[in-house]
Amino acid sequence: MALLDGKVVIVTGAGRGIGREEALLLAKQGAKVVVNDLGGHFDGTGQSRSPAEDVIKDIRGFGGEAVANFESVTDFKSAKRIVECALDNFGKLNIVVNNAGILRDRMIFNMSEEDFDAVVNVHLKGTFNMARHASAYWREQHKNGNMLNGRLINTSSDSGLLGNAGQGNYGTAKAAVAAFAIIIDREMARYGCTANAIAPVARTRLTIEATPQTAATMPAVKQGEFDRFSPAHVAPLVAWLGSDDAKDVHGEVFRVGMGRVWLMRGWHSAAQVAAAPGTFWEPAALGARVKEELAKGVTKKETMAEILTAGR
Ligand SMILES: NC(=O)c1ccc[n+]([C@@H]2O[C@H](COP(=O)([O-])OP(=O)(O)OC[C@H]3O[C@@H](n4cnc5c(N)ncnc54)[C@H](O)[C@@H]3O)[C@@H](O)[C@H]2O)c1
Repeated sequence: MALLDGKVVIVTGAGRGIGREEALLLAKQGAKVVVNDLGGHFDGTGQSRSPAEDVIKDIRGFGGEAVANFESVTDFKSAKRIVECALDNFGKLNIVVNNAGILRDRMIFNMSEEDFDAVVNVHLKGTFNMARHASAYWREQHKNGNMLNGRLINTSSDSGLLGNAGQGNYGTAKAAVAAFAIIIDREMARYGCTANAIAPVARTRLTIEATPQTAATMPAVKQGEFDRFSPAHVAPLVAWLGSDDAKDVHGEVFRVGMGRVWLMRGWHSAAQVAAAPGTFWEPAALGARVKEELAKGVTKKETMAEILTAGR
């Protein structure tokens, strides 16, 4: 008996990179998979059916069940059709992996409105679109006594969790995608669902072609060498989070890659100062207290470069 026997899953952006590995492993673990991919360039332009079709061939090649879908997650009605694709072909939906992504890196002073909108539309609006239609379906089914154990897995990034210069559009959307998982989990837990987020680290075209500065930290492996940056390191966590065994994991964010999984912790109060009861702060006096009592509690911030060299 495999971990995901009988489950139906949608993986968006499953034609390449991390999504492809997720679709393959989920299928190997017994799930029936909707392989969604628009098939465009890393900047979101263009489209092609071949990435999703190739993954379908691979899954069918090892006896798995999968169907391709070529719609964009950015369109609300298209996202509904992606959900319907699962229902029409496999009769139900248990797991949604929001993975589709593009990049258009620019410093804030050079970023066009279009570069901002295009990136936010795929990552944040696309995640909303898929979550919205899947959640309505899971709630309706729950009301009818059909327990589907819905699982939503959003794809965030260190770019948003730690902050990375040159990615104001992408990082902002990715931080929101993590927050979105926490919020959706609070709304959907009562219907037997969980929502969590992952922040992957892997060598894909987004880290090689689209961000050459990262490419240098993820050198290609020589033949026979173990590939610590393979996107296949991300999929096992996603497969487990999608399973019934992960029912108690709610609203968490995990960094995953290189054979490691980190539990991430976000905003939380670390220290406080309070005005004397019944008084307002005098700004300079407040500043002195902030410097003395709060800024001292600020710990050194993790950087993305440190993560990539972990364990070397
Ligand atoms: N590679 C990393 O280290 C890394 C780090 C952090 C986050 N991520 C995130 O992981 C996810 C996968 O990225 P990847 O690195 O595998 O990149 P990738 O470019 O190899 O794969 C992304 C896929 O998404 C598809 N896609 C893009 N727009 C789409 C749309 N509107 N509708 C449907 N499909 C669409 C693309 O066609 C592509 O096949 C992305 O969300 C990315 O931001 C990756």
